[in-house]
Amino acid sequence: MRHFLSLKDFTKEEILQMIELGLRVKAEVKAGRYTPYLEKQVLAMIFEKSSTRTRVSFETGIFQLGGTGLFLSSRDIQLGRGEPMKDTARVISRMCDMVMIRTYKQEKLEEFANFSDIPVINGLTDMYHPVQLMADYMTMIEHGKDKRPIVAYVGDGNNMAHSWLMLASKMGFELRIATPKGYECNAAVVADAAEFAKTSGAVIEFTNDPKDAVCGADVVTTDTWVSMGSEEEKDRRIKDFSGYTVDSEMMKLARADAIFLHCLPAYRGLEVTEEVLESDQSVVFDEAENRLHAQKGVMVWLNEKRLEA
Ligand code: CP
Ligand code: NVA
Repeated sequence: MRHFLSLKDFTKEEILQMIELGLRVKAEVKAGRYTPYLEKQVLAMIFEKSSTRTRVSFETGIFQLGGTGLFLSSRDIQLGRGEPMKDTARVISRMCDMVMIRTYKQEKLEEFANFSDIPVINGLTDMYHPVQLMADYMTMIEHGKDKRPIVAYVGDGNNMAHSWLMLASKMGFELRIATPKGYECNAAVVADAAEFAKTSGAVIEFTNDPKDAVCGADVVTTDTWVSMGSEEEKDRRIKDFSGYTVDSEMMKLARADAIFLHCLPAYRGLEVTEEVLESDQSVVFDEAENRLHAQKGVMVWLNEKRLEA
């Protein structure tokens, strides 16, 4: 049985298998066919942080696959009152078929997975957001940006930047990350990416100059400067990220046919301008929709692995 905690744990072939499955199910649904790949299965969805896309896409996704989703906010379940992860994991394992967790520390997710008899999916931690990157890569494929693209990530060295590092280093493309000084990516994640890049041929570069990163890029992406959990740093961050707004001037440095990605929610006027977000280059709503399709690929694949085990 496999869990989906980070792209670190998957080969390029496995990532492509999940995305191809997602694309197949997407085509079926677009043709009006709902195949019950996960009939009667129950997906528990534990949220310790807010969400729009993750909740809606997982709940809709499992329903369309023939199962049902259980929305479990930590404000309502005993986990929020101090029941240990390891006990919650064993209880949910006895009743459900799969579990998705959005939490703070990656270690908490890993602890849950260690005590879980059912597949566990990372729905975002402070360290990674791997299901988002499955949707992002699916969107890149659909827009013809998967053939050795140059991707420029401009912004915070956060969970999204770390997930881009994992995707690029596994798939073997060029990733340039521009962060302000003091907001660089986690050193252990950077080291892992460098190791994977040796096999995949990925080229990974870091800079403190967003213009350098964006020059000639096929994909330009960014994320909020104030992630969930760092709200009290908002004022300082807005000052420190000055010059990092993805605006039309910056987009002009990328290839003329470059696409703009953002996991959303977006904060207009901060990490991206209204003009870029609403431009023809922006495919952020295709990307958001692909959360639904890509995650179906992940869930069906995990179920297949569980049946094989
Ligand atoms: N991109 C993303 O994960 O959005 P939500 O926080 O709304 O789930
Ligand atoms: N980096 C952001 C992503 C939100 C989907 C956060 O963690 O809040």
